[in-house]
Amino acid sequence: MSARKLRVGIVGCGVIAPLHAESYRLADGVEITWACDLVEEKARRLAEKYGIAHVTTDYREVTAAADVDCISVCTDHASHSPITVAALDGGKHVLCEKALAASPAGLDAMFAAHARRPELAFGGVFQHRFDQDVQLLKRLVEDGSLGDLLTAGVQIRCWRSPDYYRADRWRGTWAEEGGAVLINQAIHFIDALLWIVGGARAVNGVYANLTHGDSMETEDTAVATLKFAGGALGILEATCSSHLSWEPTLSLHGTRGSIDLRGGLPLKVRFTDEATAKRIEQDLAECDRAMKVAAGKRHYGTTHPELIADFVEAIRAGRQPFVTAQSARHAVDVVLGIYQSHRSGSWVDLA
Ligand SMILES: NC(=O)c1ccc[n+]([C@@H]2O[C@H](COP(=O)([O-])OP(=O)(O)OC[C@H]3O[C@@H](n4cnc5c(N)ncnc54)[C@H](O)[C@@H]3O)[C@@H](O)[C@H]2O)c1
Repeated sequence: MSARKLRVGIVGCGVIAPLHAESYRLADGVEITWACDLVEEKARRLAEKYGIAHVTTDYREVTAAADVDCISVCTDHASHSPITVAALDGGKHVLCEKALAASPAGLDAMFAAHARRPELAFGGVFQHRFDQDVQLLKRLVEDGSLGDLLTAGVQIRCWRSPDYYRADRWRGTWAEEGGAVLINQAIHFIDALLWIVGGARAVNGVYANLTHGDSMETEDTAVATLKFAGGALGILEATCSSHLSWEPTLSLHGTRGSIDLRGGLPLKVRFTDEATAKRIEQDLAECDRAMKVAAGKRHYGTTHPELIADFVEAIRAGRQPFVTAQSARHAVDVVLGIYQSHRSGSWVDLA
């Protein structure tokens, strides 16, 4: 561990910011020096709760501050890009919440800034890649336990009330959220699926606003099909109009076995070799699902602390974090691809 503390600025002091603050506090040798929010009172509240010395409403103060080494970007989706660009250009390492950006132009600007300062750590927040069940599924694909992957899918069913969309101006807008259920809630498990199977090369989808027409303009329901890079086919369903609140289902089907998880727990595990199925069920039963910090909602999962500890270690080691921004981009490209496919009526190729 280096002698000097790593100094953090948090930009955006809303719902997710305390989870970042508490996760940084769990990491050794870290001090949060700045809290920034357009609404000064929100920055002040976070600062008081976590003993943060400086408060501002202008993120440029944080990106230019001498006592900041890295910045957590915890604002609405459209503002991630300008804040990240200013931070990287200011020589700060960046951890950006999902979704990295709300548009292809926003993404391109962020990666152009990182190309100017490639020595800086630039990570995305997809904490579920640290979930032990998600890591287990990835191992089953990679070590050949499932055989050749044939199909894989994800269903995300959650509930977002009309009041949720009315409460914050940016939510449910194309301009600031960039969408709704796909780019905000489902993107976590779209990322998990893509990470497990090794990425997608094309997507075709449709979306609708079926029950939130009075409270927001973007989609509350979407379905899509995917062609994965390895040749398997995929399916995706997402809705924030469901009474089955927060029950993500991940399914993988290969020539040697099939596995369906709901909320990280096994629904069905069938393998040609029964001993393998038993071992996997046992491993799933032993996955650590304990909450490590008080901040955050149950459906955010338990692994922000692991992701932030890795970001801190990455900075100290001079490497990119486990969830590189580059890899976190793929799920955004898939989501933006579904929107584009809906409008064009065609498949969208993913670079
Ligand atoms: N990883 C997860 O599990 C998880 C969970 C919830 C939210 N998020 C993500 O975190 C981000 C924030 O979500 P939230 O629910 O905390 O939203 P929020 O609306 O509660 O908070 C966002 C805050 O950012 C502030 N802000 C906006 N633009 C700003 C700017 N230019 N400078 C300074 N402050 C600015 C707003 O005033 C607001 O207080 C989003 O990207 C969201 O998708 C991630």
